[in-house]
This record gives sequence, C-alpha cells and structure tokens, in this order.
Amino acid sequence: MPTNSLSQHLPFGENKNAEWYGKDIISVKQFNRNDLEYIFGVAHEMRGMVERVGTFDLLKGKILANLFYEPSTRTSSSFTAAMERLGGSVIPINEVKYSSVSKGESLPDTIRTLECYADVIVLRHPETGSAAIAAKAAKKPVINAGDGVGEHPTQALLDVFTIYEELGAGQVDGMTVTMLGDLKYGRTVHSLARLLSMFTNIKLNYVSPEILRMPKEVMDEIGEKKVPQAEFDTLEKVLPETDVLYVTRVQKERFEDPVDYEKVKGAYVIDPDIMKSAKQEMIVMHPLPRVGEISTDFDDDPRAAYFRQMEYGLYVRMALLAMVLGKA
Ligand code: NCD
Repeated sequence: MPTNSLSQHLPFGENKNAEWYGKDIISVKQFNRNDLEYIFGVAHEMRGMVERVGTFDLLKGKILANLFYEPSTRTSSSFTAAMERLGGSVIPINEVKYSSVSKGESLPDTIRTLECYADVIVLRHPETGSAAIAAKAAKKPVINAGDGVGEHPTQALLDVFTIYEELGAGQVDGMTVTMLGDLKYGRTVHSLARLLSMFTNIKLNYVSPEILRMPKEVMDEIGEKKVPQAEFDTLEKVLPETDVLYVTRVQKERFEDPVDYEKVKGAYVIDPDIMKSAKQEMIVMHPLPRVGEISTDFDDDPRAAYFRQMEYGLYVRMALLAMVLGKA
C-alpha cells in the first residue's frame, strides 16, 4: 500500500469480535434472556442519545439496504430513521415493481446484488421462510422485517422493550398478556408470544374468533416451556386481570376466501367503555396499522401505549443495526 493510501485516513473500524457482529436476525428463537437484557440496555442508551443529541456518527459511512416486498410505514421508516440517526445512509427499495424483481429476479440474486452496495439488508417479504433463504444467500447481515405469516422479530423486541420502559424494568416477569384479534395470520403475535415465553410467571391469554386462533405449532413451543396459555372467544373474562392488552388487525390480505374475512372483520373494538373493566396500571399496545380495532376515542387514555410503542421501535432498531455492524 503506498504511504499516501486512502486507508491511512480511516480512523475507526468495527469490532469484529463483538458477539453480534455480522449476525442475521431472523427469528426470536435465536435470543435468550441475556441477549434481551443486552439489546434493551443498548436501546435504552440509544433513547438517551437521541433525546440529548438527536443524531450521532456511530455508523458513519455504513449503508443499509431496505428491501420491502410488502407495504410498510413504521418498520421501513423506523429502520431508515435508525440508520440516519446513527450517521449511516439507506438504499430504499419499497416499490419492488420498479426493481429487477419485476423482471423475474430471484430473491437470492436480489440479495447478492444489494450486498455488493450495502453493509446490512433489512427484508420484508410475503413468504414465510424468505428471510432465512436471504440470509443463506448473503454474506452480510440480513434482518427479518416480517416474512409472511412467519415472524417479525424486531417488532417483538420493540414490543417487549415497550413493556420494559412503560411498566418498569423487570416487570415483564409475572405479567398477564392478552393478545386479541388475528392470531392466526398476525406474525407479530407469533414472535411476541415466543419472546414472552422466556420470562418467568408469564400468563398468555389468546382472544380471537374461532378461525383466527393462535397456530398450534406456536402454542406447542410455548407449552414446552410450561407457560400457561388459554384461548377465549371474548375479552370480558380476561380483561380485568390483563397487564398488557396486545390488539392486532385482522390481516385481510392473507385470507384465502374473502367471505371469511367479512365474517370476522370488526369482531373486537376497544373503546373507553370496554376499558372501564381493565386495571388502571396496564397498557394497550398495537403493532399498527389499526383498521378500527381500537376506537380513536381511547387514544387520549394514558393506558393507550400504541403511539409511544412506535417510538420505542426506533431505539430498538438503532441498537440492532449497531450490534450487527460491530459497533455495540
Ligand atoms: C405489522 C406487520 O407488518 O406485521 N405491522 C408492523 O410492522 N408494525 C402488523 C400488521 O400489518 O398488521
């Protein structure tokens, strides 16, 4: 290398020995309790830094490819904001119809292309298992931002971080969490239920129409950890004992028969009247978007945590990007 080489001007590198350096984030199954404490610790620091300085150069010069084959507002923009608040930049591919995907390019080839230009890839795709396929094709880290009805691990992490921050550190143990709505097709609840099963004395209630029950495979996994789980058709019985009510949208786009969607849409609506029977010290969460499951009349209630939940997503995604790029 000549003495005037560019490399002598480059002061800092990543820590390649850091535990999370270069790792993919595909499923919540890859985390243990210590990992969660670590991620939430970093996310909490990110929150402090954003509040104090807004933007800082931890990932200066790093590039994120944000590859979305399905619609997204929060996940895609919070990953963009996370990267930019850390001083990095983003290649946004939201409209795959304008990319070579519309010419028939395979997912592995698209991934191989993007990793030539980016240091990390965030992927949302309609097929379950697609994130794992992408991760296999890629040498750079791939982060699953939702694979069909499979998983949405970064959402589940931000959901549990929300519970930590809102109800106090350590408070996740011993909580009763009630999930409401489309538990069959909702990938967020699949990841969240699995993640919560790592805590002690957790109780999970699933409230849904018969045709939208939590998949057996998820319930079996959680059952193996001896976490009590119970299914209900209505909310009334379990609302008074609930610490976290996690509301979900009926996933219209995943129904094979639109008639079935018509039967269950609007099955549950949370409003101030229903919430009279809930505790005062509890929170209502929703991954959003909502399409009528929570009345806007409830938005001003201090227990309505769903807008704050979005903000926690920024800090968790900042933490994850810094970790896989060897800067945390
Ligand atoms: C969720 C998703 O995409 O799975 N949205 C999100 O990421 N916040 C939930 C949904 O679409 O209902």
